[in-house]
Amino acid sequence: VAEREQLRIGVIGAGRLGASLAVALARAGYHLTAVAGRDPAAAERLAGAMGPGVLAAPSPAGLLANADLVFLTVPDAAIEGLSAALPWEPGHMAVHCSGALGLDALLAASRAGAATGCFHPLQSFPSREPEPARFRGIVCGVEGREPLGGLLEGIAGDLGAGVVRLEGIDRAVYHAAAVLASNCLVGLAAAASRAWALAGLPPESARAALGPLLLAVARNINAVSLEEALTGPVARGDVATVEAHLAALARDPALAALYRELGAELLRIAPVADDHARARLLALLG
Ligand SMILES: NC(=O)c1ccc[n+]([C@@H]2O[C@H](COP(=O)([O-])OP(=O)(O)OC[C@H]3O[C@@H](n4cnc5c(N)ncnc54)[C@H](OP(=O)(O)O)[C@@H]3O)[C@@H](O)[C@H]2O)c1
Repeated sequence: VAEREQLRIGVIGAGRLGASLAVALARAGYHLTAVAGRDPAAAERLAGAMGPGVLAAPSPAGLLANADLVFLTVPDAAIEGLSAALPWEPGHMAVHCSGALGLDALLAASRAGAATGCFHPLQSFPSREPEPARFRGIVCGVEGREPLGGLLEGIAGDLGAGVVRLEGIDRAVYHAAAVLASNCLVGLAAAASRAWALAGLPPESARAALGPLLLAVARNINAVSLEEALTGPVARGDVATVEAHLAALARDPALAALYRELGAELLRIAPVADDHARARLLALLG
């Protein structure tokens, strides 16, 4: 592997992750040579924002002439097809950023002699505006035979991120864990907002009221153990309150079912000392 300064990095896909990754790599001192995308204008915008020295390659194939390490930050469904369409050569390193896909998505690159890897930031990049700071303090899932795996670990470290290695890991379950912690949180907020309105409160006030609560709990989860972060009726063994919630939520069976499912998950970690209360909660939550 070339030294960091000599390593030429290209990014194909100037979307949400690609824009943030490209800027974060450049800021960390990596030699970003080119960006490319399906829409040349998006690649030009990103290259322009990064200053001189970064080329907007006219096409993804054209980028490969100017890069050793190539990040494919395109949608999951496009990775395999794009990889199969590019003129890889031995010496190239092809890396996708999908949590859900294994290295088999890059089989065509591997057959052409490229090393293949995965670099999956456990983070949400919701905007096409580059947000390089979003790598700081997160963990990246990394996969790749050495020396590429070690190189990707080093890159994660230089972006301020930790690493979990994904070799031999069930990728679908790993990705489901990430989805539960990120996308499903949005689903939970949607359910809480529906309950807010069901209580008779103005729907438009749900976000202002529930957002700070959600944020505070997320911070607690990040700071202390799950057991310590858990408060509320299940943690206290308050059977009557849980009964009242379930009775009230019967008006919206989907909300009641979700409350039960998540309540049962809470009961797994709740320190309810009273055996009788625990048994009644278990019967209520299933
Ligand atoms: N965003 C996140 O929070 C996040 C987090 C972790 C991992 N990831 C992973 O990062 C990858 C990219 O996701 P994203 O959210 O950044 O997607 P995105 O915002 O939709 O960006 C994808 C980019 O790829 C371009 N593109 C699509 N097909 C292409 C092709 N065949 N050739 C070249 N460029 C193509 C798109 O161009 P157009 O603009 O013309 O459509 C777009 O600029 C995925 O593998 C995803 O799983 C994303």
